[in-house]
Amino acid sequence: MSRHGALITATGLVKSFRRGAETVHALRGVDLSINRGQVVALIGPSGSGKSTLLNVLCGWEQVEAGELILDETLGASEPEDLPWGRVALVPQALGLLEELTILDNVLMPARLSGGVQPMIEPAAGLMAEFGIDHLAARYPDQVSLGEQQRTAVARALLLKPMVVLADEPSAHQDAGWSDVLFAAFTRLAAQGCACLIATHNPVVWERATTVFAMRDGELSTHNTRPAPAAH
Ligand SMILES: Nc1ncnc2c1ncn2[C@@H]1O[C@H](COP(=O)(O)OP(=O)(O)OP(=O)(O)O)[C@@H](O)[C@H]1O
Ligand SMILES: [Mg+2]
Repeated sequence: MSRHGALITATGLVKSFRRGAETVHALRGVDLSINRGQVVALIGPSGSGKSTLLNVLCGWEQVEAGELILDETLGASEPEDLPWGRVALVPQALGLLEELTILDNVLMPARLSGGVQPMIEPAAGLMAEFGIDHLAARYPDQVSLGEQQRTAVARALLLKPMVVLADEPSAHQDAGWSDVLFAAFTRLAAQGCACLIATHNPVVWERATTVFAMRDGELSTHNTRPAPAAH
């Protein structure tokens, strides 16, 4: 365990994309630390690099420069080797598998880690909490976008990850369901995990313990509030 409770520490992350002759500098030397108990709101204009940062932190994208130090409890020293059960992503585009039912999408991480049976009850619990339990047998294209998004959040939380990286998880939610999702992230943080939530939702900024602001590929810490109380 790291001395400062940091689950992920990043220094000097650089990532660019090439589009023909054009180069887009998505991350221009990002430093950050995500600590146990934190619910971090990652804010910033469209195109400022929020999704790129989350995708780098979970190992979906490789950086050109910079270092990522992962706490040993995350089960890997390189982001591309991180197990689903330790660092979970809610992708902005959700990434549900269309050929699987809502229940099987939620159970996907358990299937990948080899133990579906013990996770059926936790999956049912999360699905009830997120109001998608009655949709278990439907396919993603047979439910609403908000319901698909709550399915992606349930999938991310199933294995009780140490770090949740959620990319605009309330983009398709009404105020009530936004509250439910945020409460689930806060509960996880109160148990010693950490959540990094890219969001345009001001309610999340107000309730987060920490706010990171991105602008044009650079990140600054705005403010830090006390960690949420345990329930
Ligand atoms: N695969 C890609 N190829 C080329 N450019 C990309 C790619 N992915 C992202 N970009 C560019 O990198 C920059 C950062 O994009 P990113 O998706 O990280 O922004 P964002 O802050 O998540 O925006 P939004 O709030 O709209 O989701 C943008 O200029 C975007 O056009
Ligand atoms: Mg984005």
